[in-house]
Amino acid sequence: MSPKQWKPEDLSRLASGFWASAALHAAVRTGLAAHLAQKGPATAKQSATALGLDLRATRMLLDALHALELAMKQGDSYALAPGLEALLTPDDAHSLSNMVLHMADLMPAWAELAGSVQSGKPVDMPEEPGDNGEPAGRGHFYRAMRDIARQQAPGLAARLGLASGQRLLDLAGGPGVYGLTFAGETPSLAATVFDLPGAQPYFHEEAANHPRGGEVRFMAGDYQKDGLGGPYDVVWVSQVLHGEGPGECRKLVAKAAAALKPGGVLWVQEFVLDPEEPKHPWPALFSLNMLINTEDGQSYTAQEICGFMQEAGLTGCALDGPTREGSPAALVKGFKP
Ligand SMILES: C[S@@+](CC[C@H](N)C(=O)[O-])C[C@H]1O[C@@H](n2cnc3c(N)ncnc32)[C@H](O)[C@@H]1O
Repeated sequence: MSPKQWKPEDLSRLASGFWASAALHAAVRTGLAAHLAQKGPATAKQSATALGLDLRATRMLLDALHALELAMKQGDSYALAPGLEALLTPDDAHSLSNMVLHMADLMPAWAELAGSVQSGKPVDMPEEPGDNGEPAGRGHFYRAMRDIARQQAPGLAARLGLASGQRLLDLAGGPGVYGLTFAGETPSLAATVFDLPGAQPYFHEEAANHPRGGEVRFMAGDYQKDGLGGPYDVVWVSQVLHGEGPGECRKLVAKAAAALKPGGVLWVQEFVLDPEEPKHPWPALFSLNMLINTEDGQSYTAQEICGFMQEAGLTGCALDGPTREGSPAALVKGFKP
């Protein structure tokens, strides 16, 4: 691959790219995006009045959304661009609104990235309490995981080779979209979602949308301290390892392997890092996201993930490729002899 030849305008675009992100975040945070998605075209005055926003500022934001091709303008009226209606309607099954809100929550820590690179430590960002007593960002986080998983999970059960009558553990499954979707696609699969107690309300919220939601069990626990139950035919560990340093990953993979039946399979989904020939910038950028937000989390290479599996006694470890075509997430599998 020949190196990119940078032009001044390319560098300027990248340096100021966060302006566009912040405009999208503001459109979602103020409710403007949802308002246009649900009510259809509206003038700046109509939107500002309905949402209690400043009129001049609302017009400026709408003009920016138009310039970014997120909105269309006809006369004084603004409408969302094609394809955005479902994505920006908060309770639509295809919504990514909470992913946008979670990204907005991450902005202050990303602004301090240089400090983390100097110190090697995460950014010290006090958690803001929300109305219901839990951290304000928690709902955005779990629902963002849900929004992303809803795009990734459908159709995956067949690729994982899940079969009727098997027992599956969705380890640190958060809102449980994977376990719930796998159960929906595999008759009489007995699925358990394990996560911290704080994830449980988001699991129940999601389970209500799934035909077999009532049959999937939520097991509240801390994977560092508590048993995982089992034995299972399949353990699915999606987007969990990157939150931990290598030592904790080793322990967690060993615990998952111990919870498997002989012949069982461990599937890991991660943003797999390829420092030599990155196919996508996301895994390396996600690693920085872990630098600023966790003590020692990071993205891992396929070799490192296979190393954790081999140390846990698993065999046949291999990178299985991207979860979906073009996706920055990929699957790694290992078998219990
Ligand atoms: C990035 S989310 C991934 C959620 C889900 N597996 C997915 O792919 O959408 C990481 C999950 O790990 C869970 N988690 C973190 N530490 C944990 C612990 N010590 N015990 C159990 N779950 C934990 C979080 O609550 C969260 O649901």
